[in-house]
Order: sequence, then structure tokens, then C-alpha cells
Amino acid sequence: MTNATITSLKNRRTQYALGRNSDLSNDQIDALIKEAIRLAPSSFNSQSSRAVILFGAASEQFWQLTEDALRAIVPAEAFAPTEAKMRAFAAGLGTVLFYEDQDTVKGLQENFPLYADAFPTFSEHSAGMAQIAVWNALADAGLGASLQHYSPIADEPAAKAFNVPASWKLRAQMPFGSHEGDLAEKTFIADEGRFLTIAA
Ligand SMILES: Cc1cc2nc3c(=O)[nH]c(=O)nc-3n(C[C@H](O)[C@H](O)[C@H](O)COP(=O)(O)O)c2cc1C
Repeated sequence: MTNATITSLKNRRTQYALGRNSDLSNDQIDALIKEAIRLAPSSFNSQSSRAVILFGAASEQFWQLTEDALRAIVPAEAFAPTEAKMRAFAAGLGTVLFYEDQDTVKGLQENFPLYADAFPTFSEHSAGMAQIAVWNALADAGLGASLQHYSPIADEPAAKAFNVPASWKLRAQMPFGSHEGDLAEKTFIADEGRFLTIAA
């Protein structure tokens, strides 16, 4: 059975070797990312996900700021691989910074006290949903991407550089671009022990 969603899920892989060889315009990619986030589900349809979409020099700036912050804490003799990673991320077309709006989370907690404890977790789930939606959309557009986590180190430099509202909490970063290298082999654990199918 062919299924468009499964095909799309297979298309999406972690690609670290990124470049700028794409026929897509920044506007097209920008629209794709926004639509994917708009369509992603969120608890109570709260739409807590936010994004800063960086292209070209702005994306390079983000990774330079992150590199600067890391340089302050990573021992100099061990920094070369970190620096190489930052350069690889910056070599792509851009980076999506994924945020969750904490004012939205607080609003939910006030409006639905019964679920108050659950909303921060739901917000994290929503963040993941927005991320997979964007990752899949980029993959189906022929672009490679990876998912990175440089919080909290990147939070303040990014907030200052890109005027990010104070209530937005940075959750992940997704550098994207053209595929410029092979993908790592992917293996799967056995279904036994992973799934229980109960057919009454
Ligand atoms: C919640 C989550 C966190 C991840 N964090 C990172 C990360 O910080 N750095 C990274 O390079 N990849 C990260 N990844 C990507 C995984 O390593 C990758 O998806 C996994 O190895 C499977 O490979 P694939 O993406 O090619 O299918 C993360 C993935 C998920 C779902």
C-alpha cells in the first residue's frame, strides 16, 4: 500500500552536509515553513509554537553567535569539531529557530486549571509536532536539514540579535539547505518489544 505520509516520513532524514544549491526562493521556503507550523496540531489548538526563520547572512550570524558562546565554555584544544559543526550548519540556506510562547502556556494554565500541570509538557509536544512538520515539508521540497539543541546557550544572543519577544522560549534549531553529502545508515530496533497490537 502506497501512502503519501509514509513516503514523506521516509524522505526526511538528518542531513549535516548542507549547501545553497536550490531552485527554491527564500520566499517559497519561508511560506512552506510557516504553513507547516500553522498546520501542526497543538493542545487546545493553542498554537503555542513560534519560529524565527533565518536565511543567508542571518543564519550565519546565528551560528557565529552560538560558536562564540560555545567557545567560552569548551576547552580550546577540544573546540575544532565544534567549530566544524557550526560552519557546516551555517553553510546551508538557513535555519529555523523553534520557540514555544510561554504566555500562551500561562494563559492555558489560567483558563484550564484542571490541566495546569500538563500544559508545559503539552507545549513541548507541540514543539516536536511543529518540528517534524517543518522537517517533512523541507524534505519533500528536496531540502536536507537536521535538528539541533543549543539551548540555553544560544537563547540570549539570538533574542538580542533578532528581537525575539521575551515570552518566546527557544526549544530547537533546524539548519537546512541542499543535500551535499550521503546520509548516515539508519537501523531500526525489532518490532517485538516495541509494539503491542491487540486485535480482539
Ligand atoms: C527529540 C530529538 C532530539 C534530537 N536532537 C538532536 C541534536 O541535538 N543534534 C543532532 O544532530 N540530532 C538530533 N536529533 C536527530 C536524531 O539524532 C536523528 O533524527 C536520529 O538519529 C534518526 O536519524 P534520521 O533523522 O536520519 O532519521 C534529534 C532528534 C529528536 C527527535
